[in-house]
Amino acid sequence: MRGLFITLEGGDGAGKSTQIKNIESFFEEKGLLVVHTREPGGTPISEKLREIVLDSHNLEMKDVTEMLVYAAARAQHVRELVMPALEKGHIVICDRFLDSSIAYQAYGRGLGDMVGIVNAFATGGLAPDITFWMDIDPDEGKRRVSRLGDLDRLEMEEGDFHFKVYEGYKAIAEGDPERVKRIDATRSVEEISEEIKKYLEQICEKRGI
Ligand code: TYD
Repeated sequence: MRGLFITLEGGDGAGKSTQIKNIESFFEEKGLLVVHTREPGGTPISEKLREIVLDSHNLEMKDVTEMLVYAAARAQHVRELVMPALEKGHIVICDRFLDSSIAYQAYGRGLGDMVGIVNAFATGGLAPDITFWMDIDPDEGKRRVSRLGDLDRLEMEEGDFHFKVYEGYKAIAEGDPERVKRIDATRSVEEISEEIKKYLEQICEKRGI
């Protein structure tokens, strides 16, 4: 049986890491093997690409280059780690995936449809079984991130970039409500965990896990 592919999405500072730990425990308690990974990154080559794309010194990087580096990191990650794990029946939890490229590069950078086309090739058509969009107002997200210290190249973006990213996530969630679950990330950790657990129980029941 193919495993489950779960992704978490959201603007900066939406509290994804805490929820990833909860999801991990949920499946480990069922005795399942969980692979926790992230994008950009997850494999040695993809982690090197991550360093390049997030380096706050790389201010000359063009938007198209940025989009292609994220896609290249993803192509390697999908083939080297995600697909083989799913084929073994493992649960793969990924911090960000293709929806990030749609939100940040297609909407945020304004690169449009080309992002989906390039990424269809990069992912080989792999899509998550379920995605949690941690929905937080971009201003609040920014406040949370700037409290944490050094900013990466994307977090440094000013102006309406993060609002466009937010609009991107909204459009993705509205366009695919079956897969993408909007989670109000302004609530307490406990409330958020409960809601996510409810969705996980549903998907497990559906898939006989
Ligand atoms: P990361 O530190 O993982 O962000 P966070 O902790 O907020 O999840 O950095 C990843 C950054 O890269 C984040 O700002 C979102 C951005 N990103 C894209 O622009 N496109 C993509 O395809 C991916 C995967 C991430």
